[in-house]
Amino acid sequence: MDVKKKEGISVLGSTGSIGINTLEILKRLKQRYTVVGLAAGRNVELLLDQILQTKPKIVSVESEKDAEWLKSKCGKGAPEILFGSGGAEKVASANDADVVVSAITGIAGLGPTLAAVKKGKRVALANKESMVSAGPLIREMAEKNGAKIIPVDSEHSGVFQCLSGINKEDIEKVILTASGGPFFRSSKEELAEKTLEEALNHPRWKMGEKVTVDSATMMNKGLELIEAHWLFDVKPDKLDVLIHPQSIVHALVILKDGSILAQLSATDMKIPIQYALTYPARISPAVSHLNLSEVGKLEFYPVDQKKFPLVDVARRVMEEGGSAPIALNAANEVANNAFRSRKIVFTDISAVVIKALEKHVQRPIKSLEDIYFVDRETRRQTRNILLKKELL
Ligand SMILES: NC(=O)c1ccc[n+]([C@@H]2O[C@H](COP(=O)([O-])OP(=O)(O)OC[C@H]3O[C@@H](n4cnc5c(N)ncnc54)[C@H](OP(=O)(O)O)[C@@H]3O)[C@@H](O)[C@H]2O)c1
Repeated sequence: MDVKKKEGISVLGSTGSIGINTLEILKRLKQRYTVVGLAAGRNVELLLDQILQTKPKIVSVESEKDAEWLKSKCGKGAPEILFGSGGAEKVASANDADVVVSAITGIAGLGPTLAAVKKGKRVALANKESMVSAGPLIREMAEKNGAKIIPVDSEHSGVFQCLSGINKEDIEKVILTASGGPFFRSSKEELAEKTLEEALNHPRWKMGEKVTVDSATMMNKGLELIEAHWLFDVKPDKLDVLIHPQSIVHALVILKDGSILAQLSATDMKIPIQYALTYPARISPAVSHLNLSEVGKLEFYPVDQKKFPLVDVARRVMEEGGSAPIALNAANEVANNAFRSRKIVFTDISAVVIKALEKHVQRPIKSLEDIYFVDRETRRQTRNILLKKELL
């Protein structure tokens, strides 16, 4: 009989797309894992179901009111129920959590991610906004505290797998693929007319709304370039993007002898999530194996920078470094949210982000406080751009 101790998992963002997929995997793998903590935002009904099913020791929600509601519903035997970013940080740093799945959307995920890293946890990282805004700090903290960061993003999981056993000097290029999103085949002129519903209708991936809109503008790929830069310590000029509408090849690594390594799998986030949990072990997935003869063809195209300017904007920001990536992420979170609230049209997203970056003044970043300062300032400036309709 296998008497190996089960690993404890905390899931941050448990009510989101990555969180729900993670809990489905954990349900299947309940012999190996036990849920220690759950952190969510406002979807308390779903969180209550998750608490009843997984019986965590510690839980957190965004507001005190929701925490009180949960306490009243859980009754006797309720887990410790906390709220706010402090609550999510406690879930992330819970003693029994060996692995922390970081899947809160946006900069709200940064504090909890850092809390897990500071405790030396294994972090299954989906929250790319943290890595974009605080890559050097997260890396430094991870090294200092012996935390291991395993990427969940399918592209970064692909790069992570391709780079295993590869000497850094042998890398010519690391290429992230992009589906191209729902507007890959639309003309630049058509983009201004695209509705929220069309932007949310992603052809390949079923994800949360923020990241789905980021996919439509291709800001997602820009953020992922910066995420890859920090995760793998690869120089900006060695990072590239290719459109691959089938979303089967997730990443390619070109080596200096002309060999190209690629990672392929079915288009299902359960595969990279599960790998981040079981790493370095490989176990059978809940998803059918990919049948390449059914897929038939794999296409690759360059990015049309005129249609999707934010990929190049992100590349320039990555080269500039310092406070620029924080500003890019903050401006994009505000603009993305304004589009989802129907306050601006689709093409305004990139225009607002570009305008906000023009106004950004580079600052030295030495601490978490510096990061939050730039984040706050950029949000304020971006909201001003929206209010004054400077460019709309
Ligand atoms: N979905 C994907 O396939 C995918 C792939 C790669 C990377 N990612 C990245 O993974 C992250 C999550 O994506 P997603 O698609 O799962 O997003 P999502 O479906 O929108 O879920 C976001 C999760 O974060 C929680 N949340 C939001 N604000 C919070 C706050 N202030 N405090 C605590 N919890 C908060 C939400 O809670 P409530 O719903 O309860 O409010 C929800 O559980 C993003 O950074 C995204 O870029 C996602």
